[in-house]
Amino acid sequence: MNVVLIGSGGREHAIAYKISESKNLDELYIIPGNPGTEKLGKNIDLDSSNHSLIIEFCKNNNIDLVIIGPEIPLVDGLADSLRANEINVFGPNKKAAEIEGDKSFSKDLMKKYNIPTASFKVFTKEEYNSSLEYLNRICYPTVIKASGLAAGKGVAICESKKEAEEYVKQCFNESLFGSSGETLIIEEFLQGEEASIFAITDGDNFVLLPAAQDHKRRFDGDIGPNTGGMGAYAPAPLITDEILKKISKKVIIPTLEAMKSEGRKYNGCLYAGIMINNGEPSVVEFNCRFGDPETQVVLPIIKGDFLELLSSTAKGNINKASISVSNKNAITVVAASDGYPGSYKKGFEITGIEDVESENIWVFHAGTKKEENILKTNGGRVLNITAISDLSLSDAKNLVYSAISKIEFEGKVYRKDISDKAK
Ligand code: AMP
Ligand code: GLY
Repeated sequence: MNVVLIGSGGREHAIAYKISESKNLDELYIIPGNPGTEKLGKNIDLDSSNHSLIIEFCKNNNIDLVIIGPEIPLVDGLADSLRANEINVFGPNKKAAEIEGDKSFSKDLMKKYNIPTASFKVFTKEEYNSSLEYLNRICYPTVIKASGLAAGKGVAICESKKEAEEYVKQCFNESLFGSSGETLIIEEFLQGEEASIFAITDGDNFVLLPAAQDHKRRFDGDIGPNTGGMGAYAPAPLITDEILKKISKKVIIPTLEAMKSEGRKYNGCLYAGIMINNGEPSVVEFNCRFGDPETQVVLPIIKGDFLELLSSTAKGNINKASISVSNKNAITVVAASDGYPGSYKKGFEITGIEDVESENIWVFHAGTKKEENILKTNGGRVLNITAISDLSLSDAKNLVYSAISKIEFEGKVYRKDISDKAK
């Protein structure tokens, strides 16, 4: 199989790593890829927002499958353009990707089909006054979300009416998230613990991958600003078999049915962010793609032919038997640039990766670049150092923190408590 993978982050590096294990893989092209994916295939510097260029590349290189990693090309309809040219794609069409791209659509869908989620109300910019009036009538804390894509930064947990009014004002009057924040969801604050669930689906049938827990806050003990994710681990013991059954029954099955009924049949990875409170699941968010950095811990603990899973799904006939779950544990810790998620410096040399990489330590590149053959920092989240253990989560934790201490770059910062939530 000749495969194109779209994206350039740690998630795509992990997908490239996993599909490279498949004996069915011939050529792998990563568009645009990063210095990590370069070792697994050919990085191709093309702009994925130019659909004709991508289609032409696929035709010229006899591509059998395109895997789309990030949400932006999905929400932008790259899958539709490829399918219209009879190219197999893993990833939802534009109308199905709205489950992430338009949170007001996904909240309305959940309400209409009785899928458990926080109670909410949607307001557009034109309804500024009624949104302020609504803030008088609700309990605090409350959660306010930009309806459109905001790179994971569009959610505010407001402790008071004053904070909520300020956030609404920034979104509606000061264009904090541009057009993405012109529609807001004001929703109930959910108590509990969160997990990330990936359902791989051809729209009719699905498999669930092992549950993971992300760590969104910048600092240890879940304090400080929200980030794109500072680390993750899997499997998450919070999600027992019994809870997973409930998630299938109350969330995944009705959501896939609902999407079909709405003429938005879903093909790809449906990511459900789930809050568990007293054993009951409630949807915090849906994403139209694999999570980042959760993918970096979920893929290392599955066995079998992951490429076959994605390829059969793309063709509309998921081969559920192509993978199974191992009894390993994985942890990924994000090595970030000092200052992230605010401003930070880049361009510092990175050393030590080759010394730590082994069968059980995988270092995924998230924000790096090569200049004259020297690897340098090039983003807020630089590397995802990942350890896999046959023994236990605490063994994986020892391995990962020993590895991260041997990787050096100026301004390296990371959380020291990844996986401590596991009970
Ligand atoms: P999201 O980008 O929707 O995942 O939201 C970012 C983070 O905000 C989530 O991971 C949760 O920790 C938190 N969050 C979002 N919605 C709620 C809610 N309704 N109640 C409590 N926390 C929430
Ligand atoms: N880890 C959160 C996300 O991928 O949205």
